[in-house]
Amino acid sequence: MPAASIDALTSPTLKHLRERWWNDDFTEFLTETLRPRPGNRILDVGCGEGIAEVRLGRLQVSQLRLFGVDLMIERVMVARHETAAHNQRVGFACAEASRLPFCDNAFDSTFCVAVLQHVGDVAAAVREFARVTSPGGRIVAVEPDNSARYAYSATPAGLRAFEMSARFFGALAASRGDLIDAKVGPRLPALFARCGIEPLDVRLFPVSQTRLGVPSEDVWKRRRAVVEQAIDEAQADAVRALGQEYLDLLTAYATEARAAGPSFVEIQNTMLFATVGQKT
Ligand SMILES: C[S@@+](CC[C@H](N)C(=O)[O-])C[C@H]1O[C@@H](n2cnc3c(N)ncnc32)[C@H](O)[C@@H]1O
Repeated sequence: MPAASIDALTSPTLKHLRERWWNDDFTEFLTETLRPRPGNRILDVGCGEGIAEVRLGRLQVSQLRLFGVDLMIERVMVARHETAAHNQRVGFACAEASRLPFCDNAFDSTFCVAVLQHVGDVAAAVREFARVTSPGGRIVAVEPDNSARYAYSATPAGLRAFEMSARFFGALAASRGDLIDAKVGPRLPALFARCGIEPLDVRLFPVSQTRLGVPSEDVWKRRRAVVEQAIDEAQADAVRALGQEYLDLLTAYATEARAAGPSFVEIQNTMLFATVGQKT
């Protein structure tokens, strides 16, 4: 689904905005901080579907050796397919961030994007990043700071819908036992320092989506469809009831937005928090 078609009303983490932060500025930032040189080995932990590998591969640094690992085999398969479609040779493996299957000092630099918020033992993962990176090598961790998210709607039902979205998707994630540490980003410099990584820089990247004018019927349909599917999949009655309440609120929101007309506005914003370090 394209990023513009889904939003904070359909997810607890704004992870759908990921496609938006993988823009040229962000790729340039990663390139500047990872400093890929010919022959370097670079590891991407939690590589997902290989967006980073495709982007870094386009730099065409000679003999750059990229490696990606992810907990989920399906994502690794997609990443392998995507990079092969771009004629890139990337090493992929299925692995857990806190138990990396590589020997000490195996990489010139290591990075992760939007991964540590999902990891149970973040310190163990950061220690692994330090272990597999050679001394002097860069380590970059980028996490969305979901605690810094901001949402605005021109209508009262819209403001309540944003609150209800966070409650419903939060309850859903908790009922599944999904771990999401929304505030991990700003804690990373201190954690880096404790794990033998000298913090060099922190950078914030705002990621936002604004709508002016009444959203199309498709937007409302998609919002409802995502919530209806989530309700269908929810096991707990209390979560399902919350979902139904949320659906009613979405109906009221759509009505108010239509009444507001062309001056209707909706704003969503979150921050990416990047920590750059160097293995000592
Ligand atoms: C939000 S996605 C980000 C993917 C990619 N880094 C990007 O920017 O497009 C998070 C990824 O981290 C992976 N992941 C979550 N926990 C992990 C862990 N403990 N070890 C390795 N990968 C993990 C997930 O499977 C998922 O592919």
